[in-house]
Amino acid sequence: MTGLRLSTVLAVLVIAILSLYSWLLLNTMKPAGRGVEGQREIKPTSLEEILGSLTLEEKASLVVGWGWSRRVPGSAGETRPVRITSMVTADGPSGIRIEATKEQKWYATAFPVPTMLASTWNPELVEAVGRAMGEEAREYGVDIFLAPGLNLHRHPLCGRNFEYFSEDPLLSGKIGAAYVKGVQSTGVGATPKHFVANEQEINRVVVDTIVSERALREIYLKPFEIVIKEARPWAVMSAYNKLNGKYCSQNEWLLTKVLREEWGFDGIVMSDWGAGDNPVEQIKAGNDLIMPGNDQIVSTLLQAARKGELNELDLNRSVERIVKVAENSLPYKGYNYSNNPDLESHAKLAYEAAAEGVVLLKNSNMTLPLKPSASLAVFGTGQVETLKGGMGSGHTHPRYVVTVLQGLRERGFRVDEELSSIYERYVIEKRGKEFLEKLFYEEAYPEPLLQDIVSEDQVREFAERNDAAVIVVTRISGEGWDRRLDKGDFYLSDSERRLIETVSRFFHAKGKKVIVVLNICGPIEVVSWRDLVDAIVLIWLPGQEAGRVLADVANGKVNPSGKLPTTFPRDWPDVPVAKSYECYPGVPVENPQRVMYCEGVYVGYRYYDTFGVEPAYEFGYGLSYTTFEYRNLSVSKEGDAVKASFEVANVGQYPGKEVAQVYVRAPRGKVDKPFQELKAFRKTRLLLPGEVEKIELTISVNDLASFDESEGMWLVEAGEYEVRIGASSRDIRLTGRFTIENSITFKP
Ligand code: BGC
Repeated sequence: MTGLRLSTVLAVLVIAILSLYSWLLLNTMKPAGRGVEGQREIKPTSLEEILGSLTLEEKASLVVGWGWSRRVPGSAGETRPVRITSMVTADGPSGIRIEATKEQKWYATAFPVPTMLASTWNPELVEAVGRAMGEEAREYGVDIFLAPGLNLHRHPLCGRNFEYFSEDPLLSGKIGAAYVKGVQSTGVGATPKHFVANEQEINRVVVDTIVSERALREIYLKPFEIVIKEARPWAVMSAYNKLNGKYCSQNEWLLTKVLREEWGFDGIVMSDWGAGDNPVEQIKAGNDLIMPGNDQIVSTLLQAARKGELNELDLNRSVERIVKVAENSLPYKGYNYSNNPDLESHAKLAYEAAAEGVVLLKNSNMTLPLKPSASLAVFGTGQVETLKGGMGSGHTHPRYVVTVLQGLRERGFRVDEELSSIYERYVIEKRGKEFLEKLFYEEAYPEPLLQDIVSEDQVREFAERNDAAVIVVTRISGEGWDRRLDKGDFYLSDSERRLIETVSRFFHAKGKKVIVVLNICGPIEVVSWRDLVDAIVLIWLPGQEAGRVLADVANGKVNPSGKLPTTFPRDWPDVPVAKSYECYPGVPVENPQRVMYCEGVYVGYRYYDTFGVEPAYEFGYGLSYTTFEYRNLSVSKEGDAVKASFEVANVGQYPGKEVAQVYVRAPRGKVDKPFQELKAFRKTRLLLPGEVEKIELTISVNDLASFDESEGMWLVEAGEYEVRIGASSRDIRLTGRFTIENSITFKP
């Protein structure tokens, strides 16, 4: 009897121990099992409870990601579910990047690329886009969105420029802050990246960016500083590259002193995927989460902690930050996602954002808008393989893409079908039938094709029977490679040039107009051919609504109101980075281990304006179908703020929006300064002909400071400042002045 009872008790005990063990195993080693059904297995636990009881092993596991995400297919990675729900991360920044196969349709809206979002100069609109992306993330079970990208357009040919906003830190920062606010209003965290000075793709994982503290603080850190202070993102992604000799992800000055101590960031820093070469140094420096992570990194950290090479307090600090963010996340709050975001309303927003980001570069004699029923001869393969976005982690999988050809047809233009079918057949013949599916919904690189595939006789005929010609020029770029300073990339290919020449010749002979549509990822050379054509419309990489947006610009339903967030140089030798290669002889351009930012703060228009170099199209440039007048500027200095108020009047024929830009020119003083810098901007509401909007903008005096390296302090120099209000950086309409009586210095 007793023996039987003893064995029963023992058996029960063994079963209990085994179940406890398997429960622990399940909860510490397996994903939370949300899968696509929206279930979560790990129950919320309080921060104190978790922190107080974690073992060293668990701590080491928490700070290392769990490889590529298994829960949301196509997402980028996941944190480990150690006593608290794991968090799924997914890329942006043009939309949520998850998988959309034929079997499983987790489509995400393809919004315009960030450079185009910045071209809207409309933070409210970008906030709405951020909110929509956040909602899609939330409804697909993504907890942390790996966007926005805040690197600067230093190098016009950086392969990822389309993922970044601008060459100007204020515009990037303000648009970035709006984006983050929008995303985070949905309960999903945002992750500004890549912190910092990651402005090229070549050798991006090892390259050492050598940059002065002044340029860093005024130019490259600035957008991050604005976003962190104004929008409080949950996370920041440290960059792959080294910064002045130290990997960004292992750089304590960057991740702890600047980011946390100076700016008050209280979220998590995660590494870029596979960044750095020493996980122990990463944790010590304040890089809390190592992504995508693997078990080997966990054991390296564990051993280092056991040997005392990694102070447990450093580990605790990162663990605490991760747990705090996890506590704020949707899984922890028990949110059940639907896998069914509102793609319909987001499609409308994608249209609106693209419509406001189109930049009209040229419009001789009001070539545009066209008669809504005009007959059009459309040239170029881009009408069929219209590019919605760029390549790499910034790619999206939308439900559809409206090509230029489809958009023009859909909006009622009479497209010359014979001509378009020549291009359609050519694309299919060269690439195969599946290619377009891939290009739009998955990812495929369209090798440049010939563009002048019709004979001169055919062009003559098309010119005879159509009202106007449209030529589509495309350029794509992506993660992992930079663009080329060659024909077919920065320059037109021979066949593109021949096409533009021939079409212009025959259409002009008949008194008909030629419109070039630039469906491109970044600046190209335009000066050598722009005089041949009548209008140039820059649609960037505009997302899934591409063709509709272009067609509505062409028929006048949309009056372009985008302005360039980045300079179009006249030619390559004019570009400031072209000179920086010279200032550090011996660095092979093809395989640079270092990149010297020796142009200092003279990036973009700061360079062109200061050194008298004429651009093709300047920063802030963009035409409208209407005309705006600027009036009645008053500038006053009140305490720590400078106030500028003025009016913008629509004195033309079309309703339209204007982007009013405020540049400030500082007095000559101790620190040399750019000719002028953007300090504020405002996009008007839609102004009907005759309507006037009063604009009042405030600039904080501290935001006029330059960084004085000799003192390690910010410095606002005494003297007279000029306020320059313009429709672009070179189209200044009103000027005013104010004086700073005594210099002001303050600590970073
Ligand atoms: C990119 C990041 C991206 C990450 C995850 C990296 O290669 O640089 O921008 O968020 O991959 O996909």
